[in-house]
Amino acid sequence: MANKADDPVEGVEKPARVQSGCPVVHLDVSPALEAGSYWRKADELREAGQAFFNTMAQGYWMFTRYDEVREIYQHPEIFSSESITPWEPEPVYRFVPTQIDPPEHSKYRQLLSRWFAPAAVNEAGPAAEAICRRLVAQIAPSGGCDFVAEFAMRFPTEVFLTVIGLPASDADLFVPWVEDFFRGFGGDLAQQEAMARALDGMRQYWVDALDERRDEPVPREGDLASHLLHATLDGEPIGDALILDILTVLVLAGLDTTRAELGYLFRHLATNPDDRRRLIAEPELISSAVEETLRFYTIIFGDGRKVARDIEFHGCPLRKGDMVYGLVSGANRDPRVYDRADEFVLGRTANNHLGFAAGPHRCLGAHLARRVMKIAVEEWLKVIPDFRVATDAPLLERGGGSMMTLLTLPLAWEVTS
Ligand code: HEM
Repeated sequence: MANKADDPVEGVEKPARVQSGCPVVHLDVSPALEAGSYWRKADELREAGQAFFNTMAQGYWMFTRYDEVREIYQHPEIFSSESITPWEPEPVYRFVPTQIDPPEHSKYRQLLSRWFAPAAVNEAGPAAEAICRRLVAQIAPSGGCDFVAEFAMRFPTEVFLTVIGLPASDADLFVPWVEDFFRGFGGDLAQQEAMARALDGMRQYWVDALDERRDEPVPREGDLASHLLHATLDGEPIGDALILDILTVLVLAGLDTTRAELGYLFRHLATNPDDRRRLIAEPELISSAVEETLRFYTIIFGDGRKVARDIEFHGCPLRKGDMVYGLVSGANRDPRVYDRADEFVLGRTANNHLGFAAGPHRCLGAHLARRVMKIAVEEWLKVIPDFRVATDAPLLERGGGSMMTLLTLPLAWEVTS
């Protein structure tokens, strides 16, 4: 896969600056592949070298190991979030707070932080458990399901809507919107129209929600849209356009990601009965299973940043405006950092993974995502302790261009009564 710097890559014009000893690859991260393929690719790259130049799109640098990826995340003054998609250095969209650099970034983040802080997540715990129990009770008697469609998409969506003060039943709208958006976002051109329709649908939903709340003199208790209408930034109301951006980003950042991690976690439990039995016997290990899922089955193949000034970075001559791609999937399985890096280790201690990124843009929804994943395992195993993957056909995962996710996960179990 990797070429020496001076070997031309077939059919690709080699950028002049890659003469500097940094190997060249031509790697397309968009196709759906058999589950696990993207982690294998990341492993191969990481062990072949710490840096590459990928000639896809306009060309971008890839850093494959833990220390470098962490460094990129922790230095926003060099690695700007102005674009986080390495093949799109000038994006037409602006995700807030994702694409705002420090120092402004913290003002935007503060508008949201208390909604996803540990206290808010604790408060939402009982409601989230009740949602999970209801969904599991609906699914259990059938003896099988497509876990992705029937549980993993639905559960985090209902919890998220509850946390921000909207009816959980609106998940009927959000589930297809999020699905259609990410089919297009990952680079599938045939899905662009569905993606645009999904964005329009979501936008109209939020416009209607804001209109309904606009004239209310005080913010509605526990209602994020209402809170944002009353919030100020630098002493001014923040305005509908920004509120719409923020709410859309929350939906896109929060729902598909949690669904994806749930898919890999439950595939692991279905195919590793020893781990499943251990979690039933020692439920105090469930948090560790969640953390290890976020490391070992990280859904972020890589995360992009835009270079803010010329700099030599680990031997690569980066220029202002270049794009870099921190290979999170490589970093999270880096044997230079983790013992038994290539194994899912229940009870692993010191699991400082990058599954939620690092630095100022570290995932705002990390506490919520962890709690949702934990509740899913707890409640599912109480009712369906023994289950398996119900197909011998290979499971497919969406390409790493957006986030890896199992497209389907057919599960089956015995129904006793
Ligand atoms: C397991 C599920 C999740 C994973 C793996 C995940 C992962 C990430 C990652 C890697 C980033 C950094 C992106 C970047 O800097 O380029 C991020 C940021 C973010 N996440 Fe998550 N996320 C998850 C769940 C959630 C949830 C449930 C929410 C909220 C409901 C959420 C909201 C956000 C927001 C708002 C940001 C931007 C933070 C900022 O720029 O300051 N995420 N997430």
